[in-house]
Amino acid sequence: MAREKVTIPYLFQKKARGEKITMLTCYDYPTALLEEKAGVDIILVGDSLAMTVLGYDSTLPATMDVMVVHAQAVRRGAPGAFLIGDMPYMSYQVSKEEAIRNAGRFMAEAGCDAVKLEGGRNVAEVVEALTRATIPVMGHLGLTPQSIAQLGGFKAQGRDVETALRVVEDAKILEQAGAFAILLEAVPPEVGRIVTERASIPIIGIGAGPHCDGQLLIVHDMLGFFEAFTPKFVKKYADLNGVILKAFREYMDDVAAGRFPAPEHCYTMKPGEAARLESLVREGEKR
Ligand code: KIV
Repeated sequence: MAREKVTIPYLFQKKARGEKITMLTCYDYPTALLEEKAGVDIILVGDSLAMTVLGYDSTLPATMDVMVVHAQAVRRGAPGAFLIGDMPYMSYQVSKEEAIRNAGRFMAEAGCDAVKLEGGRNVAEVVEALTRATIPVMGHLGLTPQSIAQLGGFKAQGRDVETALRVVEDAKILEQAGAFAILLEAVPPEVGRIVTERASIPIIGIGAGPHCDGQLLIVHDMLGFFEAFTPKFVKKYADLNGVILKAFREYMDDVAAGRFPAPEHCYTMKPGEAARLESLVREGEKR
């Protein structure tokens, strides 16, 4: 039986009841089917797909066209999850008009329920404009991967009072601008707690400690399916790399040794047809 659609009021109810919200990234249909079956609350089609799926060394090369195609595939597999399209680099920074047009594509073309964008006070006007245009926005503070050039790499944020206070203030600014939720990435648990306690919107953490209203992990990280690097905050729940590599090697060994394909992998001819075929071919060869 299909589950009830996850909505913004439901996410607020979970926060109010102190029930943790679960969130995972997803980029494809088969994984979406499984996340839906598991009952994950929020699915993020993250621009991290530029790294985890497309092999780039940052998220910057993700484009709107690519993001929309992946979001469509995920929506087909997960009709009940709250689906968020991640606004890629330069899809919302140039102007509010362009931000609305691009965010609108996630909603209209991929059936997303909301979009996510990175930044605090610097994007408050964009958050306001999108919200006014009926597009729910999740903010993203702390480590914001689209700013790695400014941050000097994928580094934890808010580890001293000045930068931590800026995160706390930015969270308030985003909430006032109309964000329905905020993702907090790679900050100490103290910062996660202070932001969460003071927010009336759900705060989802990825490397922001246990006090947030919910948790996000990148699906390739938690499944052990991405080897380039593993952030400190990742817990690996599976070793897909190991499982898949073993399967590839066994397949190659089987082919080399003639064990694959076995009779059960072969089609059979209709009764009597094999012998008839042999004799017809032989007769033809004699002529
Ligand atoms: O793109 C993504 O998956 C994200 C996470 C890193 C938070 O934004």
